[in-house]
Amino acid sequence: MAPSSLHLLTLSFLLLLASTPISDGLELGADGGGGGLYREILRDETVRRLKELGQISDGEGYLERTFLSPASLRATGVIISWMEDAGLPTWVDQMGNIHGRFEPANSSKEALLIGSHMDTVIDAGMYDGALGIICAISALKVLKVTGKLQRLTRPVEVIAFSDEEGVRFQTTFLGSAAVAGTLPESILQVSDKSGTTVQDVLKLNSFEATAAALGQVKYSPESVGSYVEVHMEQGPVLEALRYPLGVVKGIAGQTRLKVIINGSQGHAGTVPMKLRRDPMVAAAELVVTLESLCKEPHRFLTYDEECGCFTEESLAGLVCTVGELTTWPSASNVIPGQVNFTVDIRAMDDKVRETIVTSFSRIVLQRCDDRLVDCAVQHKHSAPATPCDPELTTQLELAARSALSNTMTSPGGGGGCSAEAERTPPVLMSGAGHDAMAMARLTKVGMLFVRCRGGVSHSPEESVLDDDVWAAGLALLRFVEHQNVAAAAEEEEEL
Ligand SMILES: *[C@@H]1O[C@H](CO)[C@@H](O)[C@H](O)[C@H]1NC(C)=O
Ligand SMILES: *[C@@H]1O[C@H](CO)[C@@H](O)[C@H](O)[C@H]1NC(C)=O
Ligand SMILES: *[C@@H]1O[C@H](CO)[C@@H](O)[C@H](O)[C@H]1NC(C)=O
Ligand SMILES: [Zn+2]
Repeated sequence: MAPSSLHLLTLSFLLLLASTPISDGLELGADGGGGGLYREILRDETVRRLKELGQISDGEGYLERTFLSPASLRATGVIISWMEDAGLPTWVDQMGNIHGRFEPANSSKEALLIGSHMDTVIDAGMYDGALGIICAISALKVLKVTGKLQRLTRPVEVIAFSDEEGVRFQTTFLGSAAVAGTLPESILQVSDKSGTTVQDVLKLNSFEATAAALGQVKYSPESVGSYVEVHMEQGPVLEALRYPLGVVKGIAGQTRLKVIINGSQGHAGTVPMKLRRDPMVAAAELVVTLESLCKEPHRFLTYDEECGCFTEESLAGLVCTVGELTTWPSASNVIPGQVNFTVDIRAMDDKVRETIVTSFSRIVLQRCDDRLVDCAVQHKHSAPATPCDPELTTQLELAARSALSNTMTSPGGGGGCSAEAERTPPVLMSGAGHDAMAMARLTKVGMLFVRCRGGVSHSPEESVLDDDVWAAGLALLRFVEHQNVAAAAEEEEEL
């Protein structure tokens, strides 16, 4: 097919999706697409299941499910039963990921993968990860009960990843990195606090726990068309904009630094101010400097015509954090001898992040010189940004828009905008890492964010409105339907 005709074809489907919600053969409620059956499965049942999964915990009175823990195994059984209920054949791979896949007869199409993670942090909320898994299962269940599952032309697979948070082994994405094929064999020898290795845990649970078995978890890039993930936002932006759903343009890149400052330790009462070499005040000054670098980057980074860098847009989403600061000897009557602090810098634009890192490192050395203290900046970790696929993002946006016009949730706050403009979901950047980041090494990725209360996550206070859960499930349903309409048309085109 010529590129231009493909483009036209895609465009016409997008227009189709935008103008007419796909609803052939379905009984829609009075509120249009959201009612009745849709509402029961995508909202009420999804919320019931979120609560049920949220009760499956290794902790007493709080939620904790780590990689292959007893609670994770119980959760696996429950998730498998829900996948089967949605008409999906299931299996658990050699890294403990749960797969539920519909395979159309005679389809040679690349699969659409939809997933998120089933593990949690300690004292977690019930939406992080679980929301994406259960919404996907619910969307496919609607297809099953409306008789549309059997008519899908492209394989569709839901994956519940066994580990994303990395709580147990201090290493993230055990599940999705294995599927993407980027997990090194050496992972098997990594041990948890008790000295148990990944290999031990796998063996204990009757997995093969060999490098070869790990290799089998990997999907071939040719067999996969795309990966999409629904996730709670874990930030306050959608709530502030009063939108239930947002599309994600990418996941921020990240740099982690450690700054070590040596001064001279001394008596708080006897050393005159002028004679001090105090690492604490140097650290304080640097923390504040870092804040202004990231809060007002345009004061430091002006638009560079030559490289086209540092536009206002590229600076948006830049965030810097000092989350840990330790001092020695840490006593109220002692001028510290040493202060260490961590720096976490994230941005969608890698060039912006790298420039901030370089500028900050230079400032550290300068200020330390001024204050006669000795400083070192250590690079601990660096990861580039992961852009989402623009076409998937457009399709998710159209699906979200269609869902929002069909659920009870009213986006926007009834401001001065036109109704149409109000329905266009915002485009966000993800400051947090997600399985989509690991899956981007395998295939194109797209993400949909769901509004949460107060931007709170990794806490039992996590909260997502039932209606927003519904909107997310409906958007995913629309998206899957559309993917298959497109696949069917491609097939016709080929004939
Ligand atoms: C699959 O292909 C075979 C051979 O081309 C054909 O006989 C069969 O009817 C097809 N099945 C479906 C469900 O289309
Ligand atoms: C600072 O970091 C160094 C190197 O990791 C470590 O040896 C030292 O104990 C740390 N000091 C404090 C005060 O945490
Ligand atoms: C800080 O002091 C420790 C202990 O004397 C030394 O090992 C380290 O290299 C010093 N670091 C810097 C940045 O001067
Ligand atoms: Zn998550």
